[in-house]
Amino acid sequence: MSSKPGFPRHVAIIMDGNGRWAQAKGLPRFAGHQAGAKMVREIVECAAELGLEVLTLYAFSHENWKRPKKEISLLMSLLEYFLEAELKNLLENDIRLQAIGRLEALPPKALSKLRKTIQATRHNKGLVLNLALNYGSRQEILDAVKRIVADPPHEITEATISGNLYTRELPDPDLLIRTSGEMRLSNFLLWQISYAEIYITEKFWPDFKKAEFLKAMDVYKKRERRFGAVKA
Ligand code: IPE
Ligand code: IPE
Ligand code: MG
Repeated sequence: MSSKPGFPRHVAIIMDGNGRWAQAKGLPRFAGHQAGAKMVREIVECAAELGLEVLTLYAFSHENWKRPKKEISLLMSLLEYFLEAELKNLLENDIRLQAIGRLEALPPKALSKLRKTIQATRHNKGLVLNLALNYGSRQEILDAVKRIVADPPHEITEATISGNLYTRELPDPDLLIRTSGEMRLSNFLLWQISYAEIYITEKFWPDFKKAEFLKAMDVYKKRERRFGAVKA
């Protein structure tokens, strides 16, 4: 399946600002994570409706283990809840779940639910929903280098690196979205977004509704991607 003309094939999102959303409302950070998890469904459905090929969501970074234990365990419970609650929706919308990151280090319960949902949706042919969990781009590149040196090919090319990343079966993102206004990548897909268009919005992730996502699509359509060449 391929995306409609003018739309990105692959959109990657740094879902940031749950904590600030909650703080602005005088609520605990967890309430922000809960609201953020709800917004995931809306955006995933919208991406599927638009016929995008891949939606990668940064859900938990390699660096997020630095957060308080309680917040981490709440985030992991939310992940488990999401995986269970969304299965029906994923099947109905023909969405295939995938995940990138050092998954084996996730808590066993979350990992087993993740594997089950990936397995249950593996024959779906529509959108690929790719969750970045315990994901760090430097760690991904390091893991790729280790794989390559363990069984070195005759020649090392860009394709050798791309082909050993966790994202090896996916096209590179065309559009990177970050919510909450931070101007940084936070160790996300450093190799893969070399030529992605970047869209940063001040909206906190729990306020990033379908209309905001569609706005990002419109902005993307107006961008001129030159890939280093001059305008034709
Ligand atoms: C994003 O929201 C969710 C995760 C990183 C898991 P944050 O929790 O980072 O929210 P802010 O940045 O503190 O507002
Ligand atoms: C990036 O957000 C990670 C996720 C959205 C999962 P962070 O909130 O962890 O990033 P920093 O700490 O502001 O760079
Ligand atoms: Mg943040």
